[in-house]
Amino acid sequence: MTDAISNRRTFAIISHPDAGKTTLTEKLLLQGGAIHLAGEVKARGQARRARSDWMKIEQQRGISVTSSVMTFERDGITFNLLDTPGHEDFSEDTYRTLTAVDSAVMVIDAAKGIEPQTRKLFEVCRLRSVPIITFVNKVDREGRPVFELLDEIADMLALDVSPQAYPVGMGGEFEGVLDFATGCVARPEGPSKEFAGKRDCEPEIPDRFAEEIELAKIGYPEFDIDAYRSGDLTPVYFGSALKSFGVTELIEALAQYAPPPRPQPSDEGFVEPTRDEVTGFIFKVQANMDPNHRDRIAFMRMASGTFRRGMKLTPSGLGKPIAVHSPIMFFAQDREIADTALPGDIIGIPNHGTLRVGDTLSEKDTVRFTGLPNFAPEILRRVQLKDPTKTKQLRKALDDLSEEGVIQVFYPELGAQHIVGVVGQLQLEVLVSRLAAEYKVDAALEAAPFDTARWVTGSDDGVRQFEDFNRANLARDRDGDLVFMAKSAWDVNYQQEKHPDLTFSATKER
Ligand code: G4P
Repeated sequence: MTDAISNRRTFAIISHPDAGKTTLTEKLLLQGGAIHLAGEVKARGQARRARSDWMKIEQQRGISVTSSVMTFERDGITFNLLDTPGHEDFSEDTYRTLTAVDSAVMVIDAAKGIEPQTRKLFEVCRLRSVPIITFVNKVDREGRPVFELLDEIADMLALDVSPQAYPVGMGGEFEGVLDFATGCVARPEGPSKEFAGKRDCEPEIPDRFAEEIELAKIGYPEFDIDAYRSGDLTPVYFGSALKSFGVTELIEALAQYAPPPRPQPSDEGFVEPTRDEVTGFIFKVQANMDPNHRDRIAFMRMASGTFRRGMKLTPSGLGKPIAVHSPIMFFAQDREIADTALPGDIIGIPNHGTLRVGDTLSEKDTVRFTGLPNFAPEILRRVQLKDPTKTKQLRKALDDLSEEGVIQVFYPELGAQHIVGVVGQLQLEVLVSRLAAEYKVDAALEAAPFDTARWVTGSDDGVRQFEDFNRANLARDRDGDLVFMAKSAWDVNYQQEKHPDLTFSATKER
């Protein structure tokens, strides 16, 4: 691997809302010298707190596009930080973003430990063995005992934990953070008790902490880079994003331990980043960034090769090459130097709907990346159009939004009403708001008599027979694939038992 490739770190931060992801992102960018972006991140974090505000912000796409990918450099390492949506609902968008990273930082609030959203996102990382560095945040405040936190991470996530630092007191007692690697304590300074660079490398540790620290060092597994990289062990850092403790240590850990661009799974096995050919996959599409133009940006994660502006790439769904003349690069510091992109990098490709989430782009149109699934929706709704003359617009809108991964759309074999499916409630709110704002379609969502959906595959005969008997409960998804709309999980089991030759699948890979 060339240095340029091995010096790239593409990662995401996963956390429960309020744990401090925005604050930490800001501090990481500041250390990377990308100061002008920091304000934007903050602005977005604040606005995110209220749901209605969040939607307004999402509609002003300009902000979220610049902060969906943040690239910064430090000590010769290029970091690509991909933003995952911060709201509480799990969304498919989040999942897909996590397919585009090589590692993740898990931020935990020291007073709260593992929260529901942390756990869900962690499970997604585990599916792909994404290595995780843990950052226990807010140690400047009163938090839970360190051992309780470490044990909770280990137990709830079934993961080995290896502490790499120790908070010398928390809250009122906070005296700094001891870094195991150097033995130095980062000390709070001044009335605001921030970390301003003062490291005490011959620290006197009060007795009541000294014993705990010894225990932390010997009572947990030693750091093992292979175990970390295979997703079995997480190094744990302690700090305060707000007061800048632990941020440098975190960046250094990412630089030192986090994997460079990993080989990506495809139909021909893993594609190595060193492959000559430019290949990549679309993990996110953002439409209508400018309400006056129906343009969209497809975000491609580079898997191999050296991309150069103007290059021709063939999208897997299209069969003919497109010239990528004006890719958007995301260098926070210096946009000009970004004429080329390497494995691990993200480029934004403006297009008019030709590129879809899950598409592979490549020079020679041979390989297909796998592992970007659709999930069986957990909430299904019928879309009721208030103005029946808008049928065409509605179909266009639903197609667009399903391409973006905001919703999934199902067209029933009988009856005319479209059904939308989502994994989290918030996706429905976004749907209704965007239908009105971007497509001028006034629609209501009503309960559908289905609870979940399964993709059905099997022999032609088997599938035909199943179709003949169940037509009222069948639909096609946007790709024309057959979907069984089930009234309940029991219904799925029942059909599966009745048709053992068919597969009822809760995920579908494109
Ligand atoms: P999020 O993106 O994960 O949702 O969290 P965010 O960074 O927005 O932080 C949530 C709240 O926690 C913010 O306070 C933030 O200032 C605070 N916070 C983040 N890191 C630390 C830390 O290390 N120590 C302490 N004590 N607080 C921290 P807020 O009052 O909700 O917002 P704000 O008005 O301060 O921005």
